[in-house]
Amino acid sequence: MNIEPEKMDVISKGAFAPIYPLIASQIVERSSVKKGICVDVGTGPAALSIALARITDLEIYAMDISKDMCRKAQENVYKAGLYGRIVPVRGDVAKMPFPDNFANLVVSRGSIPFWKDLTGAFKEIKRVLKPDGFGYVGGGFGSSKMKAKIKRDRERKLKSGKYKKTEIYQNPKKINVHEVENATKNAGITRYSIINDDSGMWFLIRK
Ligand SMILES: C[S@@+](CC[C@H](N)C(=O)[O-])C[C@H]1O[C@@H](n2cnc3c(N)ncnc32)[C@H](O)[C@@H]1O
Repeated sequence: MNIEPEKMDVISKGAFAPIYPLIASQIVERSSVKKGICVDVGTGPAALSIALARITDLEIYAMDISKDMCRKAQENVYKAGLYGRIVPVRGDVAKMPFPDNFANLVVSRGSIPFWKDLTGAFKEIKRVLKPDGFGYVGGGFGSSKMKAKIKRDRERKLKSGKYKKTEIYQNPKKINVHEVENATKNAGITRYSIINDDSGMWFLIRK
């Protein structure tokens, strides 16, 4: 399924806007990585990259498989005044355009359900991470309060008739924890933990 950049952009700047600073702060708190190189896999309009850049000294590569999404990310990075700090890059998680041992941090939100080759993706994440690097990949809204608020806002907007349903909202893709855990193991990742709570479902990976 292709996600339209315009739709994802509207969502990330509207209903979803508050989740990115929250998730960025959780990433920093849980990984303790605040500087070095970060790759944001499946960045979309780059909202998480922007939130991370605002609270860290990370040099961020905002990667997405879609050319149009990369263009949208570029536009948003420029508008946020973060040109140079965040570099949009086109790439597939299963064949990332980065050398081995490149990144201190690899993050990804809401992209896993779209990855065709899960084991290949996790092999690549492992390859790209530095030996002491940290991976934080998964999905969620940061807290149950945030999730409930998004649901309430959406229902209110739908009732008002001013809001058009989007494909993403109608059919949110879910992460299959067991499938992802198997892929992680098959990729040779032995040091990982899973957070499955109000903040979402996140795989915390050490190389
Ligand atoms: C639901 S969007 C999430 C965007 C963003 N991370 C966010 O949370 O706002 C999923 C993104 O993953 C990207 N994507 C899908 N498959 C990918 C792949 N194999 N490699 C890199 N990006 C991919 C899509 O193009 C899309 O931009």
